[in-house]
Amino acid sequence: MAIQNNSSEKGKNVLVIGLGYVGLTFAIHCCDKEYNVYGIEINETILSSLNTNKAHFLEPGIDDLISKYKDKSFFCLSSVPENIEFDYIIISVGTPYDKKNSYVDLKSMEAALSSTSNVISDRTLVVLRSTVSVSTSRNFVYEKLKTFGVTQPKLAFCPERTVEGKALIELNTLPQIIGALDDSSMEMAEKFFLNLSDSIIKVASLEAAELVKLLNNTYRDSVFAIANSFNNIAQAFGIDGNELIQKSNLDYPRSSIPSPGFVAGPCLEKDAYILIDNLKDLDSKNLISSMRKMNENLELRIAKTICSLYKKRNCNKPILLSGMAFKGVPATNDLRGSSSNNILEYLIAQGLEGHLHDFENPASILKEFYNTHSIDSDDFQSDKLLDYEFILLLNNHPKYKEKDSYEIILNLKKSNPNIFIFDAWDSIGGISAELNGSYKNLGNIFL
Ligand SMILES: NC(=O)c1ccc[n+]([C@@H]2O[C@H](COP(=O)([O-])OP(=O)(O)OC[C@H]3O[C@@H](n4cnc5c(N)ncnc54)[C@H](O)[C@@H]3O)[C@@H](O)[C@H]2O)c1
Repeated sequence: MAIQNNSSEKGKNVLVIGLGYVGLTFAIHCCDKEYNVYGIEINETILSSLNTNKAHFLEPGIDDLISKYKDKSFFCLSSVPENIEFDYIIISVGTPYDKKNSYVDLKSMEAALSSTSNVISDRTLVVLRSTVSVSTSRNFVYEKLKTFGVTQPKLAFCPERTVEGKALIELNTLPQIIGALDDSSMEMAEKFFLNLSDSIIKVASLEAAELVKLLNNTYRDSVFAIANSFNNIAQAFGIDGNELIQKSNLDYPRSSIPSPGFVAGPCLEKDAYILIDNLKDLDSKNLISSMRKMNENLELRIAKTICSLYKKRNCNKPILLSGMAFKGVPATNDLRGSSSNNILEYLIAQGLEGHLHDFENPASILKEFYNTHSIDSDDFQSDKLLDYEFILLLNNHPKYKEKDSYEIILNLKKSNPNIFIFDAWDSIGGISAELNGSYKNLGNIFL
């Protein structure tokens, strides 16, 4: 369905509860489409950052848009203003998954909903954008809305499916899935999202929309699990897994196996678990669980191999873990759910010392997040790197491929032939031959 710029939408009031990655990008996108947006955030640090017109995360273009709209059509507040009638209320608070007890924590969701009790009317559409377990919209959110005294609350589940680092683009271009409680909720959601996105996809129910989100992320988890499994299989036969996968795909239209790699980030580490909890079919449960485990075990296998290589090579300086953000492309400074966190944790438990680096986070942020010695972003491409003999490149940030990185790594090799570099994403594969004996990537580390 093509985008329809609906002039009747202009100037309508949108309330966004939770200005994290999802809420803030969505709020700014709504300002761009001429809505009046009130963003509610309880975290003082995020509000202070917004007061200086800056997002607390990396998203190309967002700071300029915050400057453009703040205090004109974007108002950041710590609580819901009660004198405004809202057309749309967006819930985008965190829904952390408690793996030990197998449940999605809805405390923030409950508080967010409660804070809207005085501003919801029969004319308000509540849009849930946080990831939830199937039936949460109907059994938890709708039930809660009914207690606010509204005769017939309107509700839609419209999942966020953008990728961090490209969210502002994808909010326009990705088709927006909509699952609604009833016809009048669907009608409002359709009007809203046709004004926001290039296209919409209506699904049969709230539950169908909740499920789409979980299926999309579980599918992504599973294709990487296959790649990681094939990489293990290749290396068990003494064959380089990266190379074998590339050659299996080459000019063969029925194979598009991805490269092996860490599967991380705040969504992929939890969404398959949320799906599993919803399943009665044992075969599906086992399949999805084993795929998730395959990806989690890769981190553990790598951490163990790193420890034994470090000891075998008689290294004694701290290990430099570079690439702490959960991915490098598109670049993000998001440290949540990163595989690097689990690898660091394992190394520390084995009594090894780690120093940290990330191209998108200064040393002060890394130090605050991990309480571990850290170096600044620019230090990687400087003589500071010569202090290390054992370096892990854990994400695929494009700066590893820059000439300055290649040069400093080759200098390091010249000054200390015993150095070792683990290059998880094959970023410096271009100089691997010159690093002979000092280089491994995911495709050959288990050989
Ligand atoms: N990060 C992503 O790329 C992504 C993508 C798709 C879906 N999701 C889902 O969207 C939801 C939000 O994710 P996120 O990454 O933006 O989380 P986040 O933790 O970055 O943001 C949530 C924000 O809500 C705020 N908050 C919590 N309770 C509040 C309340 N009562 N009132 C006002 N603010 C409140 C928090 O302080 C926080 O800043 C989660 O369910 C997540 O699984 C995230």
